[in-house]
Amino acid sequence: MRYITTPIYYVNDAPHIGHAYTTIIADTLARLYRLQGKKTLFLTGTDEHGQKIEQAASSRNFTPKEYADKISKEFKELWDEFNISYDIYARTTDERHIKTVQAMFLRMFEKGDIYKGEYEGYYCVSCETFFTKTQLKENECCADCGKKTSIVKEESYFFRLSKYQDKILKWYEQQEPILPKNKTNELINFVKEGLKDLSITRTSFDWGIKIPKEIKDEKHIIYVWLDALFIYVSSIDYLDKKENSVFWPAYMHLVGKDILKFHAIFWPAFLMSASLELPRYVAAHGWWTRDGEKMSKSKGNVIKPKEVVDAYGLDPFRYFLLREVPFGNDGDFSETVFINRNNAELCNELGNLLNRISGMAAKYSQNVLKSDNVKDFFSKEILESKNFIDNALHFSKTVQFSKFLEELFKALAIANLSITKYEPWNLVKNGNLKKANALISLCANILAKVAMLLSAVMPDSMTRLSNSLNFKINNENYKKLIEKDELFDFEISVCDNLFKKIETPLLNSQKSEEKKDEDTKIKIDDFSKLKIKIATVLDCENIEGSEKLLKFKLDLGGNDIRQVLSGIAKFYNAKDLIGKQVCVLSNLKKAKIFGYESDGMILSVKSEDKLVLLSPNDLVLNGSLVG
Ligand code: MSP
Repeated sequence: MRYITTPIYYVNDAPHIGHAYTTIIADTLARLYRLQGKKTLFLTGTDEHGQKIEQAASSRNFTPKEYADKISKEFKELWDEFNISYDIYARTTDERHIKTVQAMFLRMFEKGDIYKGEYEGYYCVSCETFFTKTQLKENECCADCGKKTSIVKEESYFFRLSKYQDKILKWYEQQEPILPKNKTNELINFVKEGLKDLSITRTSFDWGIKIPKEIKDEKHIIYVWLDALFIYVSSIDYLDKKENSVFWPAYMHLVGKDILKFHAIFWPAFLMSASLELPRYVAAHGWWTRDGEKMSKSKGNVIKPKEVVDAYGLDPFRYFLLREVPFGNDGDFSETVFINRNNAELCNELGNLLNRISGMAAKYSQNVLKSDNVKDFFSKEILESKNFIDNALHFSKTVQFSKFLEELFKALAIANLSITKYEPWNLVKNGNLKKANALISLCANILAKVAMLLSAVMPDSMTRLSNSLNFKINNENYKKLIEKDELFDFEISVCDNLFKKIETPLLNSQKSEEKKDEDTKIKIDDFSKLKIKIATVLDCENIEGSEKLLKFKLDLGGNDIRQVLSGIAKFYNAKDLIGKQVCVLSNLKKAKIFGYESDGMILSVKSEDKLVLLSPNDLVLNGSLVG
């Protein structure tokens, strides 16, 4: 049984490369386990409660639930587009989750592990973490994200984390659950410094799960991390003992290094308190930067996974993420390195090998490759490639996919080098057709074995490859090709190139944006063609049947009264706008929108997810020109 999880992602913002990275690692593992015939359950989802989400929603004029629905959907759609093979997409606002969290809280309370007190200290909303003053950077900024913390002083329930200190240390020692192993020492040191009891409820905001009604103190909201971690339990219906509950305990929680502490210190303590078994592994990956710099919105250098995939395709992106960084290390996203790997490794070493094999098979053996003589001629090559494949499998057990891929490409190199070394065209010329065909069959078998394993990383391309060699990627063939090391016969059909060479970088970096700006600059005369005027809203109303549109009656001065439609209904209350001054592009051709005439365009600015109307800073005469 293999139950693997990604963290559930905060819905404060759109998915970025860090989210894609964790999810793609988990997806690769899940695909590999399924191929190996292991019963696998793969969970991902979204973390929707807490102050951070409440604030993100309100700054965009949404309720927390509306906002959570919107972003959670974006994550799900992205994973579907990325062909992520999750079995469960869980949300902390799901009813079964809320019930489970309350039940677990009660268990821990009844055990005597939760007591009431008062919390006084610092809180970082961005990390949803409590800090003591000594743990902060200068200016009371959060040691993890660098943002300003706030002082919190409120009644709170506490969890007796201190009680579990020795048990957690014992878990590290006996089970060695942390991957990569070298991350364990940091944790041991942290725990040995002494664990303080943890504040696990808040009273100064609402957006979260109330503590169980049995405790009769409903103003307390459960700390978002306790809430979120129990998603791993709630999503398999552990309490109701439904079908998926047999997957407990979790086999592996995949996390980023920033949230290892929550998963390797708080989580095992919560589980012990709730009398649940601990996970087998907690595996923590490193942090991505772009061209050596931290990614941030203000720098405009955030990598959007969809942008990369739209530019270069899904499989090269998955390959790059897993190949570029040894598991646990930080990694840098450089488009140049991405392109080099795509062209040199995917196109030349992998894609081209298939082309060479299919070209030679067409020429020398009517596309049919028999494996009868391979062992007689090439037993050394078979053995060497098997060793690399075994190494790859060994690395996959500890999530070291960079090494896994490296080893698989070493196996491919044996095939490519054999072609160079034995020159099948010369073998044919010299009358040794038997050896030439055995060589091509050797290469096809190495390629098939590698493709079987690579299919976990690049499912689409490897399916195309296997179709071209005419074998299926499934558990039955996994056993034959990988476990029993059998050789297959193939009948080859030609397929288009598996990967495309990338000639020029396509991603939008800030620099190319600047260049684009330069290219699209206009002259002042172009601007003066636009007649942007100030107008007062005389009337404004919603349009029946449209969620987006508002219908305005505007006074543009000099008896110029017009009707204009604008798609801002989600962001403004119609009646609140009456009497306000707005900017209108007045010399726009008339248009019919939703059956109504619209004579002009009201100007607004899009900022993240909201639209804000532009208006003059002071009252001015209607009809005044903006310029
Ligand atoms: N909601 C919590 C997790 C709760 S799990 C019970 C959370 N969410 S998150 O959306 O902020 O982050 C999720 C994951 O994205 C983390 O594993 C984090 O490490 C990862 N990343 C966020 N930015 C990253 C990079 N720049 N690089 C690599 N991964 C990073 O934490």
